Amino acid sequence: MIFELITVPVILGIESSCDETSASVCVDGVILSNVIANQTIHEAYGGVVPELASRVHQQNIVPAVQQALLNAKVNKNDVDAVAFTRGPGLLGSLLVGVSFAKAFALARNLPLIDINHMQAHILAHFIGDHKPSFPFLCLTVSGGHTQIVLVNDYFDMQVIGQTLDDAAGEAMDKTSKILGLPYPGGPLIDKYARQGNPDAYKFPEPQIPGLDFSFSGLKTAILYFIRDNVARNPDFISQNLPDICASVEKRIATILLNKLQKAAKEHGIKQIALAGGVSANTGLREGLREMCAKNGWESFIPKMEYCTDNAAMIAIAGHYKYLKGEFTGQNIAPLARMPF
Ligand code: KG4
Ligand code: ZN
Repeated sequence: MIFELITVPVILGIESSCDETSASVCVDGVILSNVIANQTIHEAYGGVVPELASRVHQQNIVPAVQQALLNAKVNKNDVDAVAFTRGPGLLGSLLVGVSFAKAFALARNLPLIDINHMQAHILAHFIGDHKPSFPFLCLTVSGGHTQIVLVNDYFDMQVIGQTLDDAAGEAMDKTSKILGLPYPGGPLIDKYARQGNPDAYKFPEPQIPGLDFSFSGLKTAILYFIRDNVARNPDFISQNLPDICASVEKRIATILLNKLQKAAKEHGIKQIALAGGVSANTGLREGLREMCAKNGWESFIPKMEYCTDNAAMIAIAGHYKYLKGEFTGQNIAPLARMPF
């Protein structure tokens, strides 16, 4: 199939990799809408239940797309291409977005653009005016990933460090579970940490060679620390919640930032970005700003709405693939695992 490339591309972006159903419209590289339907159903289970997530995506996808078109004041007949998250993510969740994108494109004879969710988190930095230039480094931290990525070009990215076990977001969420807080715990740890003393408790920093990370030892240390203190004082958590959260947040942020600084020095890179859900974390954002100011580097920190999962990042990634003329066919299937 040959598609005519027009000068002002109108891209519909679809995201459904985990528990947010999102749709966005991007016109000529400018995001005009970004509708995100959150799923609260998982709170009762302490984590995302894949089967429930896909069912709720099924209910939310059509209204989210309608709202995104409405907010952008774009008619569905004016869409030039549909960009969608192919992976990585939960297969049942991805299937909803992929199937919707394929149906929408087939009905209008539009090109399809498949997007890697982790690349899209990084490409969210190309929304707005403060764009990094290539090459830059990006610390991508989400519920399932912790990666230091050397970004050479829009779709030329190299993972130079990653977690050997748990992701940073998982460490946040598991800590909050240990503390009896609801899912997702990251934003709550952030909230309580603002009122606490980050030096109240010392948690270990794992000694992992190179640029890789490990969070499983920290998780166990936190578990034992809470268990031992609660055995001595049953009210330990409620009496010290802000200090516990501030100390855990500081340790996770320093683990991440120490490796990021090492990577930047080793590769001689002076533009450093954050991406993914954990980049919403106040301590990490402040820590990156301080680290960059100290070293004379430039920091790139995404707006809050582009930190956690959203379709604007899929639409902007779709925009750049559209300009390259890189499309996919109707036989495409989602991928639970999808390396760059
Ligand atoms: O990128 P994301 O929305 O979904 C995945 O692709 O995984 O990231 C979700 C993760 C969760 O672990 C959540 O607890 C964490 O991001 N998170 C935060 C904050 N907001 C979200 N962690 C720390 N502080 C926050 N403010
Ligand atoms: Zn994500």
